[in-house]
Amino acid sequence: MSKDNRFEKLFEPGRIGQMTIRNRIVMPPMQTNFAAKDGSVGEEIKGYYGARARGGVGLVITEASPIMPGNAYYRPVLATDDKFIPGLSQLAKAIQKHGARAAYQLVDYRTSNMRPECEPVGPSPAGPRGEVQRVVTEDEIADIIAEFAKAALRVKKAGFDGVEIHGAPWLSFGPVYVARLEQTD
Ligand SMILES: Cc1cc2nc3c(=O)[nH]c(=O)nc-3n(C[C@H](O)[C@H](O)[C@H](O)COP(=O)(O)O)c2cc1C
Repeated sequence: MSKDNRFEKLFEPGRIGQMTIRNRIVMPPMQTNFAAKDGSVGEEIKGYYGARARGGVGLVITEASPIMPGNAYYRPVLATDDKFIPGLSQLAKAIQKHGARAAYQLVDYRTSNMRPECEPVGPSPAGPRGEVQRVVTEDEIADIIAEFAKAALRVKKAGFDGVEIHGAPWLSFGPVYVARLEQTD
């Protein structure tokens, strides 16, 4: 590939499943602390993501949003209740009105040992940093899957183009979620 056309593909439309994206540039999820204190969408967070979409990125993935309120070590935007749907809808529109696609990242911090008040749990007694953690039950796994699904439905109702499931190894449980979600369809 010559120097002149090395970014040719980058600016061509791309596709994820049935979703077309105007180019191949993706803004990855990054926690901002720009949500309102109660986890709802306000002017600050809309302005921030809107500006990124206006900059030309093809897909914006918004920051990790915990499926359990009060279980994050920062101030996240939330989709844990239907009351958040109107604000989330405004957030999706703030991104989409500039021609970008909007995806919403969901996470579960149940396994995180970053907040001492949260009991760390996981698929085995060995935690991600060598600590001992409680092993979750099958019923708890079913509950967690249900919470992910409920939050994803709210995000869909709000008009987002997609959902990303956070699967980082330091949460140790993430890959299990993804596999289970695939099985349950
Ligand atoms: C301030 C900050 C916040 C971040 N928040 C998230 C997040 O909420 N979810 C996530 O999956 N990754 C998060 N990340 C990781 C970025 O998405 C990651 O750095 C990005 O995928 C770029 O990868 P690279 O550094 O390998 O290019 C964060 C990174 C930074 C610097």
